[in-house]
Amino acid sequence: MTPSLDKDEIPWEQQALNLVIATVQEAMQEKPAEQQQPLQMALMTLRGFLAASRSNEDERGSSPEPFLDEIPPNELSRFQHWGAILRTRREASGLSRKLLSELSGVPEAALQRLEEGTYAPSQMALLHLLSVPQLKLETSDLPWETSTIDPNLALNCWLAPGFDPVKMVKELSMQVNGNGGHIEQSYLYMDHMSAAHWCAIAEQKDYDAMQSSMPLDRCAARILRYVGNTGIDMIALGPGSARNEVWLVKQLLVQAGHADLRLYLLDISQPLLSVAYRHAAEVLADYGGAVFAIQGNFHHLPRYGQLLYSPRRAHRRRLITMLGHTFSNLENELRFMRNSLVGFAAGDLLLIDCRMGYAPADRPDEIMAKDPTLSGRRSSDLVNRWDEFLAGPFRRYGSEKCEVDIVPTLDMSCAIPGSYGVDLRAVVRSAAGEREFSVYYGRRYDPTLLIQALRREGWDLVDQFNYGGSSPCDLMLLRKRG
Ligand SMILES: C[S@@+](CC[C@H](N)C(=O)[O-])C[C@H]1O[C@@H](n2cnc3c(N)ncnc32)[C@H](O)[C@@H]1O
Repeated sequence: MTPSLDKDEIPWEQQALNLVIATVQEAMQEKPAEQQQPLQMALMTLRGFLAASRSNEDERGSSPEPFLDEIPPNELSRFQHWGAILRTRREASGLSRKLLSELSGVPEAALQRLEEGTYAPSQMALLHLLSVPQLKLETSDLPWETSTIDPNLALNCWLAPGFDPVKMVKELSMQVNGNGGHIEQSYLYMDHMSAAHWCAIAEQKDYDAMQSSMPLDRCAARILRYVGNTGIDMIALGPGSARNEVWLVKQLLVQAGHADLRLYLLDISQPLLSVAYRHAAEVLADYGGAVFAIQGNFHHLPRYGQLLYSPRRAHRRRLITMLGHTFSNLENELRFMRNSLVGFAAGDLLLIDCRMGYAPADRPDEIMAKDPTLSGRRSSDLVNRWDEFLAGPFRRYGSEKCEVDIVPTLDMSCAIPGSYGVDLRAVVRSAAGEREFSVYYGRRYDPTLLIQALRREGWDLVDQFNYGGSSPCDLMLLRKRG
């Protein structure tokens, strides 16, 4: 529950959204349980838009609303105690409310109400306050029932609303037992064995050499020139084992000379997220900064109000990263920019890496001859690891014993002009016959045409960095236009 504001203080767009949310909520209660799921999804999307709209509003003024919850009946003394702890910690660390507001992103008015104990902190407020190291807040300080607290626990993970990995694994199982078709890349990393196979690819020496040549140090310097001396909220979409992301964070912290950085790792794969969190926490323990893991789906970003709400007046900048060529694996990159990144604000930064084309997109023969995946010039060790990764779901979830061959094919029909696709197709043979699936799709781009296409989606190039040697890649830093 959020605290009530005077109706006249709420902009009409938010009033309209509130009305629609209330209507959907009401309609949902009349539906049988099995029909409630799509409405629940719709509700989360609407709430995400509401949070995004409040975020935009907050750039013009300050709204304490998303940081405060009503205090439940009979709980007043617990929250007054928590408010006193917050005030004592703030004063002990020599922070004024204004400075704490700047460091945490929680508006001063909300801090005051929390310290007075007249409101309970929302989940977002706790997340933001825990990321201010000077407060030295521990899980045991939080206003929860003592009996539920394990002193060894830290608030380090958030399960995104509506996220259902078990359902996704069931869907994957149904897909691999179907007649063929396309398996969206989000399903590839879900289970533990897929995650282990992905880590084996990331550690393979040729793959590792290409990734390690990414000039993240120069890129960090460019990011810092853009953000100046402000705090950074880095939202890593699909970090996998987070080697690239953590290396970038380390560069940012070392070069910035301060530790005002919050790293949010958002991944669909629970096993990979654990690997990423552990790695990030170990490194950040030496360099400072705060890390949070979020298990969720980056296609549902507009539902995750906590990530979208980051008031600009708190002097923080948001940096979204999508590394490891994940951008070029998306089913439709432009629709992703348009729909999934919609909640981000003008001035937010986006960092993506992608492969460049080996020949112009309208010369298929030249592409087939030059592109190492299509011409069969990749190292056999790397090919074997990819085959193991991509064939795995058919072997694990297929209802019949099967043979799987992974065959690369060229696709010329891509959304971004000048790009072509390499479609890795699984040919699955079993007693029932042969079926074919598109299991991994990666694009290669013409950098100029890609930049133009991204500009049309509202993202302007800030800088670009080439790397990769004989596997030419580009690291692009973009900024959302106002
Ligand atoms: C190609 S790997 C990239 C890993 C890492 N960023 C790197 O630089 O090596 C793609 C990552 O995106 C994650 N992923 C794929 N689809 C996702 C989705 N819909 N939502 C969140 N994470 C997703 C996968 O679990 C995996 O960790």
